[in-house]
Amino acid sequence: MKKPIIVANWKSFKNPQEAQKWLANLAILYRLKPFEFMNNIILCAPFLDLPTLKEEIGKLQPELDFVLGAQNIALEEKTPQTGETSPAMLIDLVSFVMIGHSERRTCFNETPEMVNKKIKICVDNGLKIIVCVSNLEDTQKVADEFPDYNELILYEPLSAIGSGQIDNPAKANDMAREIKKIFKNSQVLYGGSVKGENIKLFLQEPEIDGVAIGGASLEPDSFLEILKNASTN
Ligand code: PGA
Repeated sequence: MKKPIIVANWKSFKNPQEAQKWLANLAILYRLKPFEFMNNIILCAPFLDLPTLKEEIGKLQPELDFVLGAQNIALEEKTPQTGETSPAMLIDLVSFVMIGHSERRTCFNETPEMVNKKIKICVDNGLKIIVCVSNLEDTQKVADEFPDYNELILYEPLSAIGSGQIDNPAKANDMAREIKKIFKNSQVLYGGSVKGENIKLFLQEPEIDGVAIGGASLEPDSFLEILKNASTN
C-alpha cells in the first residue's frame, strides 16, 4: 500500500488560539473513532502559529504525529529585510518550507529567480523543501539551477486551487510523470480542491505520491476524513 504524503496548507487563516483549538478538536474527534494515523503529514501553518503548534503537537505525540512546515522564507539570509522570516528564525520550529506557492507568485510577484534563491537558502540551512509548480515551465526553471533537486514537488494547476474543480486525476498523473522525468528522485504531490470524497482518485494514480489540501484542511472533521481515506487507500 502506498504511504502518501499529506500536506495541509492553512494559508493565512488561523491565529494561534484557533490553531490550538483545531488540534484539540482534531484529537477529540480522532479518539472517538481512531484509525491508523499516518506519520507523513506536514502541517504548513502561518509563521505566527508555529511556536504554539510545535508545543501542542509535542503533547499529542506519538498518538497524533504531525511535522511542521512554513509557507514561505526570506529571500536573503543575512541582509536586513524588515518583515521577513529568516532561516535562523525557522530552524527550530519547522522541518519543511513551502516555496513558490502560486498565491505567492501571483500576489507577491515571486519570480522563478526568487523561488530559486529561497530553495538555496533552505538547502544551505538544512530545511526540507516543498516547491510548488503549476506547469512544466515552473519546474524547468528550478531544474535550470538545481538539476539534482530531489525533494518534494507540489503540482497545483491554477484552475484547481480553491475552485472546487479538481484536475482530471489521469492528467495530474501525466504531469507528475513528466515532472519526474525532470527530477528523477523527487516525489510529486497534487494539490487543488482535494477533499475527503476525491482524495482516493489522486492517491490511486501511480505517479502521485501525495496531496496538498488547502480549504478542506481548515476544519478538523474534514481534515480527519481526508486522513482516514488516505490511510485506507
Ligand atoms: P485548495 O488549496 O485545497 O483550497 O484548493 C490548495 C493549495 O493552495 O495548496
